[in-house]
Amino acid sequence: MRIGIAADHGGFELKVQLSIALKAAGYEVTDFGAHELVTGDDYPDFVAPLAKAVARGEVTRGLAICGSGVGACVAANKVSGVRAALITDSFSAHQGVEDDDMNIMCLGGRVTGYALSRDLVMTFLSARFKAEERFKRRLAKVEALERERT
Ligand code: RB5
Repeated sequence: MRIGIAADHGGFELKVQLSIALKAAGYEVTDFGAHELVTGDDYPDFVAPLAKAVARGEVTRGLAICGSGVGACVAANKVSGVRAALITDSFSAHQGVEDDDMNIMCLGGRVTGYALSRDLVMTFLSARFKAEERFKRRLAKVEALERERT
């Protein structure tokens, strides 16, 4: 599975740590930046290219990290085809994929520590969409909302 990862300064350190862990676990990791720690950088500059790559299928899943995870999540969800959520617990890390086909997981680098983040990421990546009729029906309604955007 090809994984994309992106972070601003608030998530930079966690991005570095998670990238190492993912590569060690055998994942192919594409890093959308930031490629160096710049304290004044802006999360949309890194999250938008990641989100577009996920939407185009260039990477299978994405990890978007900022200080709280909130800004990264807001930015990622502006891209059609992205289903991003800020995750802090194990249940949501897999249920968000199984029921809602979450394709980008957002983390707060100043909120969730490395060890828990790594476990959440592995749970997210191991989960698969269940594709049951009710889940597909709900996602079709979400896609209809995307088409309504002005
Ligand atoms: C950066 O200072 C911080 O605002 C940003 O990383 C993020 O938490 C925004 O949601």
